[in-house]
Amino acid sequence: MFILPTISTSFIVISAILVGIGWYQIVKGNREAHQKVMLWGAAFALAFFLIYASRTLFVGNTSFGGPDSLKLPYHLFLFFHITLATVAAVFGIVTLVLAFNKKFAKHRKIGRITAVIWLLTAPTGVVVYVMLYLMYPGGATKPVLDAILGT
Ligand code: HEM
Repeated sequence: MFILPTISTSFIVISAILVGIGWYQIVKGNREAHQKVMLWGAAFALAFFLIYASRTLFVGNTSFGGPDSLKLPYHLFLFFHITLATVAAVFGIVTLVLAFNKKFAKHRKIGRITAVIWLLTAPTGVVVYVMLYLMYPGGATKPVLDAILGT
């Protein structure tokens, strides 16, 4: 069963596309469209995170089901993806706070970094999804809560 990861991965892709459109809008000087599209981009990113976090808690994380020779490369890549996503989330919050406080010069500087990191995060997320669910059958799935409570 990988319906939830399919939905959450689609949300990352949609969010990245919206950030791309939002960037294009502000380069054209379209402030209102920029604000609207970026807020939708942030909403899809948040929706991704909520699905991912609740699945991690209640359903579990799926272990890599591919050959042993690919386990280390897969985990290194997964770590790279998680690091990018975490940095993007922190930068995203800072970017939004700067926008709402009308600190637009800083917003512009940080916003560019945020957008680039997010545009890199999305494709790495798709690669993780393809390796974990499409190239090989996913391995065992265990809820984090079970692991913590020992149930
Ligand atoms: C996480 C969401 C957002 C991201 C990633 C983002 C990203 C960016 C980027 C990359 C630029 C600079 C474009 C360039 O010069 O190449 C920019 C400019 C700007 N953004 Fe955002 N933005 C976001 C949300 C918002 C929101 C919610 C608002 C409105 C409250 C906003 C208002 C502006 C304005 C007014 C500028 C132009 C600043 C200037 O001309 O100095 N942004 N944003």
